[in-house]
Amino acid sequence: MWEERYKNTDGYLFGTEPAKFLLENPGWIRGGQNVLVVADGEGRNSTHLATQGANVTAFDLSPTAVQRARTLAAEHGASVNFNISDWDSWDWAAPAYDLVAAIFIQFAGPSERGKQFANLKQAVKPGGVLMLHGYRPEQINLGTGGPPFAENMYTSEILQESFGKWQIERLASYERDVQEGRGHSGKSALIDLIARKPA
Ligand SMILES: C[S@@+](CC[C@H](N)C(=O)[O-])C[C@H]1O[C@@H](n2cnc3c(N)ncnc32)[C@H](O)[C@@H]1O
Repeated sequence: MWEERYKNTDGYLFGTEPAKFLLENPGWIRGGQNVLVVADGEGRNSTHLATQGANVTAFDLSPTAVQRARTLAAEHGASVNFNISDWDSWDWAAPAYDLVAAIFIQFAGPSERGKQFANLKQAVKPGGVLMLHGYRPEQINLGTGGPPFAENMYTSEILQESFGKWQIERLASYERDVQEGRGHSGKSALIDLIARKPA
């Protein structure tokens, strides 16, 4: 479905600017860090992080999106290790990353979310940070982006419970007009989590 969606879109479905979430929380991004961007789409977030001096690895299942990501990074003179990979084919084994960025990855329903969060937790080095950004259930009525499934959305209770053993650095629910390509456009019910893995 995602590959078809990208193929049938002219230009960048989610725009070429990074998620505002990354721009508004810059303190967690440092040059020289090893960063993983999961389900990176067309590369707007990985490219931004690489321009900040991070060593960025990214993956997405859509070859069309990854090709656009390569083009975007090249246009910015950014070097990113791009990969075409399904979530389940990714090698999650090593806790290799100082920072993992997971932005609008709500393709997983509640039954898959536990594994998805476990994978993210595993990828972060002890003492490293996860930056997770997505929609809340209120987004369904707004209809300005994201899947049409309330159960895929995050609440602060879900995130608190899932990352309870981590140090929560930011957990914020808010509404905002999002303009991040045609895919995310309009008043949106958002949630941010920034959490640190115990050292
Ligand atoms: C809403 S888009 C967000 C893309 C990007 N994170 C951004 O913020 O621009 C969701 C992305 O998840 C990817 N995706 C969906 N299911 C996936 C899976 N099972 N494995 C890897 N990527 C997946 C899609 O191809 C799509 O690029």
